[in-house]
Amino acid sequence: MPDNPYLPCPVRIEQIITETEDRNLKTFKLVFIYKEHEKQFSYIPGQFCELSIPGKGEIPIGIASSPTEQGFLLFTVNKTGVVTRYLHIMKEGDIIGVRGPLGNWYPWEEMEGKNVIIIGGGFAFTTLRSSIVYMLHPDNRSRFKDITVVYGARSPGLLLYREELSEWEKRDDINVHITVDATDDPDWPYNVGFVPTVTEQKITTSENSYALVCGPPIMIKFTQPVLEKVGFTPEQIIMSLEMRMKCGIGICGRCNIGDQYVCKDGPVFSLAKLNELPPEY
Ligand SMILES: Cc1cc2nc3c(=O)[nH]c(=O)nc-3n(C[C@H](O)[C@H](O)[C@H](O)COP(=O)(O)OP(=O)(O)OC[C@H]3O[C@@H](n4cnc5c(N)ncnc54)[C@H](O)[C@@H]3O)c2cc1C
Ligand code: FES
Repeated sequence: MPDNPYLPCPVRIEQIITETEDRNLKTFKLVFIYKEHEKQFSYIPGQFCELSIPGKGEIPIGIASSPTEQGFLLFTVNKTGVVTRYLHIMKEGDIIGVRGPLGNWYPWEEMEGKNVIIIGGGFAFTTLRSSIVYMLHPDNRSRFKDITVVYGARSPGLLLYREELSEWEKRDDINVHITVDATDDPDWPYNVGFVPTVTEQKITTSENSYALVCGPPIMIKFTQPVLEKVGFTPEQIIMSLEMRMKCGIGICGRCNIGDQYVCKDGPVFSLAKLNELPPEY
C-alpha cells in the first residue's frame, strides 16, 4: 500500500470476462500503471481492496486472484448499485483506482497440515477462488492435506469461473463438488441440490479440518448446523463478512460490529469470534 492509505493506485482494465448468463457478474483483470505500485502491492487470500471510479465512488471488493498469479489482479463484481453499474459499462483500456490490500485473511498458518473444506454459494466465491488457486500452487499444495470444495449456484449459468471449476474437477489433488439448485439440462454432469444438502452428503468428518464458508445468509444459516453435526467447532468454521464500508482502514467507524471493525479486524472471522459479537451482521 502507498504511504497515504487513502490514495488509490491507478490501474488499467486489461480484460473483462462476463461470468454469468444474466451478465450481472463480470471479472475485471487489472494491471498497475506504475511498476512501483505493483511491487508494493503484496496480498494474502481473503483480503479485499477499495475500487474507485472518479466521480462515482469507491467500493470494497474481495481479491479474486491469488498472489501466486503474477502481474495482474482479478475482481469479480456483481452489478447492484451506482458504482458497480458504472464499472459494468466500462471498457478494456479504461483506468480506475485500487486502494489496498485491506483487511485480514484466511488463517493460513493455522490451516497448515489440515484438511481445508471450501463451501461457497453464488457470487460470494471470489476470495475462495483466490484461496483454491493459492493452495493448488506447487509451492503450497504440500502445506495442506485434503482440499474439498462444495460450490453451488441457483442454476448452471450462474456459476462463476466455470472453466476453472471443470479443470479442478478433473484433478486428483482436490475434491470438487459442484451443485445447482435446479436445472432443466438432462446432461448436467454435476449435483443438483442446495449447498447445505451436498455438504451433508460429502463432508462426513471434522477431524483435523477447517471449513471456509462464504455465501448468502440463507446458505450459511443451513450449512452451519450441517458442519456442527459432524463435529466442527466454532473455531474450525471461518467466514468472511460483507458490511457497508467507507475508509476501509479502521478509522471512520462505518463498519463496526461491537468493538470489531470489519474492514480492519475482518472481513475474515471464525464463528467463535462472531459468537462473541452483537448479532448485527
Ligand atoms: C470485504 C467486502 C468484500 C466484498 N467483495 C465483493 C466481491 O468480491 N464482489 C462483489 O460483487 N461485491 C463484493 N462486496 C459487496 C460490494 O462492496 C457492494 O456490492 C458494493 O459496494 C455496492 O456498491 P454500489 O455503489 O454498486 O451499490 P449502492 O448503490 O451503494 O447500493 C446498491 C445495493 O447494494 C447494497 N450494498 C451496498 N454496499 C454494500 C456492501 N458493502 N455490502 C452489502 N451490500 C451492499 C445496498 O444496500 C443497496 O441495496 C464486498 C463487500 C465487502 C465489505
Ligand atoms: S470502513 Fe471505516 S472503520 Fe471500517
